[in-house]
Amino acid sequence: MKSLIAGNWKMNGLSAAAGEVQALINKFSGATPEDRDILICPPATLVASFAASYSDEGVMIGGQDCHTNEAGAHTGDISAAMLADAGAAFVIVGHSERRADHGEGDALVKAKAEAALAAGLTPIICVGETKEEREAGKALDVVGSQLDGSLPQTQDEIVIAYEPVWAIGTGLTPTIADIAEVHDFIRGKTRDDIRILYGGSVKPGNAQEILAVKNVNGALVGGASLKAEDFYGIISAAPANV
Ligand code: 13P
Repeated sequence: MKSLIAGNWKMNGLSAAAGEVQALINKFSGATPEDRDILICPPATLVASFAASYSDEGVMIGGQDCHTNEAGAHTGDISAAMLADAGAAFVIVGHSERRADHGEGDALVKAKAEAALAAGLTPIICVGETKEEREAGKALDVVGSQLDGSLPQTQDEIVIAYEPVWAIGTGLTPTIADIAEVHDFIRGKTRDDIRILYGGSVKPGNAQEILAVKNVNGALVGGASLKAEDFYGIISAAPANV
């Protein structure tokens, strides 16, 4: 498997941010590495233009969320079919910020993952425990039950992201042993050919160590994906085969 380094831009990026993607490509002297997959999930407003400009340059584009339906009366929502039509190849579903801000539960996340697959997108399904849950020794229970509830029936083309909620945007990361424990646990519940990403305060300085862990098949990067220099450092630290 190729490692997958995915950037989640969250609610960041106006049209001028295209310059960061171009700067990233320029850092590879125009030829992005073919032995690992690079993905950027910008806000929905930028998906079509980024996909048109960069999909052929070795940077795949994804959405950050999708509705369960293909179309209909759902003001403000975006369907997986629309993302695919705009040139997206992936979509993040069940990110902890959507679970917290929008009350999304496992059944909804599963339905979104199934909608993504039906539209030809690869869903990146996010799971992860809160600080309280980790401190109570419940991290594996929580992740296990989120997986049981959120994974779609067909798992041919999915990605799982383990993102401990307390590590997101905080500069904190679990120990390498804790990351290994959760990733091994997830592997035990899924097929060998499904990529499992780690997310939460991945930076150029810690990427190499984290990405070398067995069953860590890439990273889902927030803040550090916004700057070409930092994202380049993380991509460069990724092993080609995982
Ligand atoms: P940070 O890398 O900013 O901690 O965010 C991680 C994340 O939520 C990616 O989806």
